[in-house]
Amino acid sequence: MQSSDIKVQLIEESKISQVDFNNLPFGSVFSDHMLECDYKDGKWQTPVIKPYSPITLDPSAKIFHYGQSIFEGMKAYKDAEGSTLLFRPLENCKRLNKSAERMVIPQIPEDIFMTGLKKLLEIDNNWIPTKEGSSLYIRPFMFASGNGFHASPANAFKLLICTAPSGAYFAGKVKVLIEEKYARAANGGVGFAKAGGNYAAQFYPTQLAIEKGYNQVIWTDDNTHEYIEEAGAMNIFIRINDTLITSPTSDRILDGITRKSIIQIAKDSGIDVEVRKITVSEVIAAAQSGSLKEMFGAGTAAVISPIAGFGYQEKDYDLPELENPLALQLKKQITDIQTNKAEDPYGWRV
Ligand code: COI
Repeated sequence: MQSSDIKVQLIEESKISQVDFNNLPFGSVFSDHMLECDYKDGKWQTPVIKPYSPITLDPSAKIFHYGQSIFEGMKAYKDAEGSTLLFRPLENCKRLNKSAERMVIPQIPEDIFMTGLKKLLEIDNNWIPTKEGSSLYIRPFMFASGNGFHASPANAFKLLICTAPSGAYFAGKVKVLIEEKYARAANGGVGFAKAGGNYAAQFYPTQLAIEKGYNQVIWTDDNTHEYIEEAGAMNIFIRINDTLITSPTSDRILDGITRKSIIQIAKDSGIDVEVRKITVSEVIAAAQSGSLKEMFGAGTAAVISPIAGFGYQEKDYDLPELENPLALQLKKQITDIQTNKAEDPYGWRV
């Protein structure tokens, strides 16, 4: 597919002058345009770029009833020369298709995804923030638009790509609660996929944690609640002494692009990285002995989100306030690559 194949319907009057780019929230101010692509008659049609606006769906569309829906999170940045930059975008496309396979949504061809995304970013180029710490958050998502109450996969789907100039995902210190009852995923389930329902299922336990004074839940395995798996909607890293540990990906754990980039950067910076199962008891023992130095979440939206303390079995544990934490060093290294402030030896920047 050529970029010129995409139909474009431009907005009559841009909303950009109403946006305060110095005070951007996360993901709630939307750019002028969106991309829409329909799957019908057994194939993905040519995408359309049109003004960001509500869409019409049949009340019996299967997305509403059976949650056949997946998404991705990506970011676009501008460097000092004004070039638009994406970070490992093909990884997002591949993961979208991995999620699609599990949720019986048809595979989106890489060229529709990439050509469509690039054209959308050309059209809404002025919406990419340049302020440090801000970016254009990109949300590609696919869902069942086909209808009927029969509990079976739909035969029509939509891919939409919407973008939102955004500031930081989290403000302030993050305190987390290690979960002892609820789980976000199980073996054989959809935890590895970015299925909308994975996130909806987190809301209730997270709400209970918030009522107790925490911001997020640390997810543990569904079977024993003894293994640490993820942090809220992010992958988790734990530093014990000088070793950085993160849980291995599995049926239950998302193969995070930020996660694998951090592992690579940390290893190449000489940091001892272990990708292995980590138990709650090990973390508690490390907190008690003083060897627990840092915990942080890693994901596209927040990049790296340091954890200030955690609760477990009615007891609170504080993490030390370090002068030069690995979390911030690694965050700088990855965002410098993303924004072209540093060399990109990996070829991740597009
Ligand atoms: C992201 O980090 O982009 C995610 O997909 C998490 C989302 C819930 C904000």
